[in-house]
Amino acid sequence: MADVLASPPKTSPSEPGPRHADPAGTVHEGEGPVRRDFLKLAAGSFAAVGVGVLAWPFIHSMNPSADVLALSSTDVELAPIAEGQAITVMWRGKPVFVRHRTAKEIQEARSVNVGELRDPAPDSARVKPGKDQWLIVIGVCTHLGCVPLGQKPTDPRGDYDGWFCPCHGSHYDTAGRVRRGPAPLNLALPTYAFTSDTRVRIG
Ligand code: FES
Repeated sequence: MADVLASPPKTSPSEPGPRHADPAGTVHEGEGPVRRDFLKLAAGSFAAVGVGVLAWPFIHSMNPSADVLALSSTDVELAPIAEGQAITVMWRGKPVFVRHRTAKEIQEARSVNVGELRDPAPDSARVKPGKDQWLIVIGVCTHLGCVPLGQKPTDPRGDYDGWFCPCHGSHYDTAGRVRRGPAPLNLALPTYAFTSDTRVRIG
């Protein structure tokens, strides 16, 4: 009998907690450990959702916009470009020269002694395999960034039938390699791939 009287009352998690009064005298029923844990969990969940809602516009603003994504690659239809002609397309804010080379221009590019070039590169490294007639280069002079002439039929093409940069007199050949003047490097090659026999995707 003495044991029973000395033992504290037992409660299970499903039972209401003990009654207690706050300093104002209000009596609270059942605010035991279970309810306190629930309140803590709920507060934590609302905080996490709140941070997510606040962060979303910021994270979303870091994604590239649709127009930027569209500019990251450019599809070019080659069929309308006749042999000997060239067109200029814009890609990532830069002009890209697409030239349909003639057999003579390809021959000129191949007959060069690569070892004598300022920026040595064989013609085969400047075009895609089996697509020797298509030369695609970034149309920005590697000296100080002018756009070389040679795209229009009436343009001067320099001493090597490629492009001529009038800013300080750099000459590029039919593979876009620098041959004379202050430019230190060949015209750069953009990343591109043929998506069909007559179509390329630049970028
Ligand atoms: S920018 Fe082309 S030669 Fe100077």
